[in-house]
Amino acid sequence: MKAFRSAILRFADDRSAVYEEDGLLVTGPDATGREVVRAVGAYSALAANYPGVTVEDLRGKLIAPGFVDLHIHFPQTDVIGSPAEGLLPWLENYTFPHESRFADAAYAQDVATVFLDELQRNGVTTALAFCTSHPSSVDALMGAARQRGLRMIAGKVLQDRHSPDGVRDDTEQSLADTEALINRWHGHGRLGYAITPRFAPSCTPAQLRGAGALAAKYPGVWIQSHVAENRDEIRWARELFPDARSYLAVYDDFGLMRERAIYAHCIHFDDEDRALMRATGAAAAVSPTSNLFLGSGFFDYEGAERIGFRYGLASDVGGGTSFSPFHTMLAAYYVGREGQTKPGLSLSPQALWWQHTAGAAQALGLDGVVGNLQPGCEADFVVLDPKATPLLARKTVQAANLDELLFALIVLGDDRVIARTHIAG
Ligand code: GUN
Ligand code: ZN
Repeated sequence: MKAFRSAILRFADDRSAVYEEDGLLVTGPDATGREVVRAVGAYSALAANYPGVTVEDLRGKLIAPGFVDLHIHFPQTDVIGSPAEGLLPWLENYTFPHESRFADAAYAQDVATVFLDELQRNGVTTALAFCTSHPSSVDALMGAARQRGLRMIAGKVLQDRHSPDGVRDDTEQSLADTEALINRWHGHGRLGYAITPRFAPSCTPAQLRGAGALAAKYPGVWIQSHVAENRDEIRWARELFPDARSYLAVYDDFGLMRERAIYAHCIHFDDEDRALMRATGAAAAVSPTSNLFLGSGFFDYEGAERIGFRYGLASDVGGGTSFSPFHTMLAAYYVGREGQTKPGLSLSPQALWWQHTAGAAQALGLDGVVGNLQPGCEADFVVLDPKATPLLARKTVQAANLDELLFALIVLGDDRVIARTHIAG
């Protein structure tokens, strides 16, 4: 067992933060050999229970759950910062040409290394990731994640129409490849597979039907896609699927809405869409830096809370502009401020942090597994340095309470704040 003495942040079931100013985190293997949190609480209350365990003294730092990125594209690591009028020209001019390079397995492996390095440097310990349509891109990412012991959920993109040569796949082959990849990777160690229709406009009804059949056959597997991101995209989806009640309903019609289904963006929804999210147990990956960068719109937090469906935060790199959860949380704050019915929300720092940790884990159906530091959770955590920059040091020393400390980190923080990222202990 290992123990760490530090300030510690974790979350209660009601989403509120639990903060120990002088805490102890004890990690070690559970009965099945997984490295988990064995105990957490006040140092004064716990230390005597672990007499033989060496305690690493991290006072002055803050231990927090590893961040969970609910939606990210590993092959878009180098697409970050590609400007376009909006989503569709961005896909056509930058993203599809770039993703076609992942037909080369060696290239995919190189980028997988850079991608996982970036996640870890930024304190992200679990991600739900798109690969490309090339099955070897999944092997590249999963193989690299397995070597690092990372909890990674990923899938081969399905896109058998309205996609250029080099990324377009074949309907039957894409479904056979998906099933083979599920069997190769899902549930092996900390890896999970996600059935990944890119978005309804890039998939034929036959491909969506096949994806839905696989989702029914493998209920433990995740599903990920995009929905209601951009007005041109929505118009196109409605033209292609005129019988569906809404863009979101297309996915439901093909059996792609259930627990463990994560839809990126979910911006231009009506209340029936929100009710469908709630009824099916699907969750939204809120991607504020992407939505601001591509001019897509604003996630409606008030609508999500009013109807009550699950959501969490995501970088959506490379539409998103940063791997840093701090940047994403700050962008989410702006979206709460500006994107709602006036006068707008002031999302609390605890709520923002929850959305990128325990809330995102709950959206994945992994509450109590990752995204938190309650006993039994997997021991994925970050050690944060509240003095990482001169301005942060000035600001955090003046923080009078937890909200002020967390807000200082959200507004001024980036990868420099991440002193260490612990994967499974
Ligand atoms: N819709 C379909 N593909 C994509 C993608 O790669 N990024 C984003 N943001 N939206 C999409
Ligand atoms: Zn995306």
